[in-house]
Amino acid sequence: MPSNAAAWLDGPKTPLEVRAAPYTSPGENEIVVKNAALAINPVDYLKQDLGRMVYSWIKYPFVIGTDIAGEVVEVGPGVTRFKTGDRVVSLAIGTMEEYNASAKGAFQQYTVALDHMTSPIPSNISYEMASVLPLGLSTAACSLFQKDQLGLDYPSDSSPPESSKKTLLVWGGSTSVGSNAIQLAVAAGYEVITTASSKNFDNVKKLGASQVFDYNSKTVVSDIIRAFKDKKTAGAISIGQGSAEACLDILHECEGDMFLSMATFPTPPKPYKSFVLLRTVLHIASRLLTNSFTAWSRGIQTKFIFGYSLVNNGVGKMIFEEFMPKALAEGRYITAPEPYVVGNGLKDIQRGFDTLKKGVSAKKVVITL
Ligand SMILES: NC(=O)c1ccc[n+]([C@@H]2O[C@H](COP(=O)([O-])OP(=O)(O)OC[C@H]3O[C@@H](n4cnc5c(N)ncnc54)[C@H](OP(=O)(O)O)[C@@H]3O)[C@@H](O)[C@H]2O)c1
Repeated sequence: MPSNAAAWLDGPKTPLEVRAAPYTSPGENEIVVKNAALAINPVDYLKQDLGRMVYSWIKYPFVIGTDIAGEVVEVGPGVTRFKTGDRVVSLAIGTMEEYNASAKGAFQQYTVALDHMTSPIPSNISYEMASVLPLGLSTAACSLFQKDQLGLDYPSDSSPPESSKKTLLVWGGSTSVGSNAIQLAVAAGYEVITTASSKNFDNVKKLGASQVFDYNSKTVVSDIIRAFKDKKTAGAISIGQGSAEACLDILHECEGDMFLSMATFPTPPKPYKSFVLLRTVLHIASRLLTNSFTAWSRGIQTKFIFGYSLVNNGVGKMIFEEFMPKALAEGRYITAPEPYVVGNGLKDIQRGFDTLKKGVSAKKVVITL
């Protein structure tokens, strides 16, 4: 049995510490992945900074992290899609409340992963490139395809897919979530209008967006409303601070499906605006609070996304087992944003947190192992 090590989170506001961790063999429909590249997400440093406000069920010490790419070293009973030596990318689900298991966290050498939340990666895609996918992809897929969210048609294997004749607004197209939302929506036959800083216009167009607007422009909302004239909307996904408010203003003036799926929780109305802590709490506790924004949303249905919710509802299997393997192998899906490798080894994961906290543009912070 191999020896394992992890970057442990020992408590709130405590730097990660690298030390030994148990090696856990896979259970039914599970595999063990020897991680070669790990990507960092905002939720990782938020857990470190905010303690119980994020993943309140976690008891320290714990191994957090969601995005892994590496080699399969062991397969559990019932696994037929993978064998040892396969190159894979997977959404690590250790921090999900129902699993709540360090063995399934990303930030270690060996992670126990779920078969149906794992995709094979073709030889022309490096581990660094693949590692940018999991949480961005899963969050976008939850938003677009879950029946309790936008409920769009599933992505198709045909290229080009049959047109739905509807247009989706993706606010925050250069984010990890947005880069995946654009590609998934286009693969499902939707036109996509998106936003990004002007330096990222080409990036989001390459992913399939038909029009892109700079969210820093004072006229962005009215410009997008004009772009939707004579189009039927499929709804919107809001990503980034201020995105939900802007999307509501736009949807209000559109024809079509009045649904806003929110990756980032909206800023609460005044007089609470100045309470930064309260904003953060609202962001994290949004599951409870979403309904209280109904009046504010002017009749447009809004819902916060939980990027893990696809694990148990069929969307996860559709994405990781059915759509992605073929789309990656046939070059129909781009691993975006581009990996930004800031370190090598578990000891550098903390540097990855610190880098992401300072902000990135159309890049995903990645650590190689
Ligand atoms: N609900 C969930 O399950 C879930 C899961 C994952 C992420 N999220 C949330 O989704 C958001 C994005 O996360 P991520 O990992 O995808 O981010 P990311 O890739 O780290 O985001 C970086 C990008 O954010 C863009 N950006 C910054 N401020 C923006 C704004 N006000 N509006 C639109 N875009 C903006 C920048 O675009 P430019 O460089 O083009 O300016 C930059 O490219 C975060 O709020 C995160 O907490 C939620």
